[in-house]
Amino acid sequence: MNVKTTSSVIDRILTIELARVTERAAVAAARLRGHGDEKMADQAAVDAMRTELNNLPIDGRVVIGEGERDEAPMLYIGEEVGTRNGPAVDIALDPLEGTTICAKNLPNSLAVIALAERGKMLYAPDVYMDKIAVGPGYPAGVIDLRDSATENIRRVAEAKGVKVSDINACIMDRPRHARLIEEVRATGAAIRLIGDGDVAGVIHTTNPDQTGIDVYIGIGGAPEGVLAAAALRCTGGQMQGRLILDTPEKIARARKMGIEDPLRIYEMSEMASGDVLFAATGVTDGNMLSGVHFSRDAITTHTVVMRSSSGTVREIKAVHRDMDKFI
Ligand code: FBP
Repeated sequence: MNVKTTSSVIDRILTIELARVTERAAVAAARLRGHGDEKMADQAAVDAMRTELNNLPIDGRVVIGEGERDEAPMLYIGEEVGTRNGPAVDIALDPLEGTTICAKNLPNSLAVIALAERGKMLYAPDVYMDKIAVGPGYPAGVIDLRDSATENIRRVAEAKGVKVSDINACIMDRPRHARLIEEVRATGAAIRLIGDGDVAGVIHTTNPDQTGIDVYIGIGGAPEGVLAAAALRCTGGQMQGRLILDTPEKIARARKMGIEDPLRIYEMSEMASGDVLFAATGVTDGNMLSGVHFSRDAITTHTVVMRSSSGTVREIKAVHRDMDKFI
């Protein structure tokens, strides 16, 4: 008899169960899509995600969530979630990644969650992070935050076997990126400027044929950086992140979370190590995931779930006819 064993503490059934969590958050947020109220959409997603998360058979602890306990009534950092009968896991989540995108009904807002064995996720403070990422298929070390954007783009083009002008970089449209944008344009590479949602921006590097994005560069939220690293761990890309700890207060806050070196560059596997699960459901239609669609007798969701230990990436297009459960 061939008995399959797994070294992982995370049950593979959870991979599928996790989809329910992001589906529910996405549906809640999608009902408020395009209504111009970011907070209301975010709150709806948080409430829905929390309800579903508490059905999961895990002893879960939120390590990246909606904020500190005093500023976030739900899914705050340190909150315990799940039925408590199951593996001890750490959770990074963003029930509505891209609140502004959702409020404006623009592409690529997501409900996102990542789950790892206890202690295997970087406890990133809510500061900015300098990030660079590429999808799978490149030689190790093709990107490096220590080098200029120009050098990184040249290396990516060379490894891909194309001209620099064939490379597309995704960068957030922010004044802080003015020089970066100028530098990348000077290389001849194209830039897709995104208004928000850099978890999607990073994930888009995993499928350039579909998304048109080869490399993600720039500064976004550190919590979003850890979530994106968890996704890339599963698909096999490369990513680095460096926290922007530019004030004594931020350095002290990071130290409390166990971060001693404020200049340290984290590799993807240091941001999310061990066995990692990741799930994202589209809220608004996007380049990789469709948004939630409502019809008279069904709600349709599009979710991607991934697991690092197997590298399996599943896309789940779900038709929910039991619409009452989403109310
Ligand atoms: P929210 O979902 O919290 O609105 O975050 C959206 C986002 O665009 C992230 O994807 C990104 O990492 C971060 O904000 C960038 O922050 P800022 O808007 O301050 O540049």
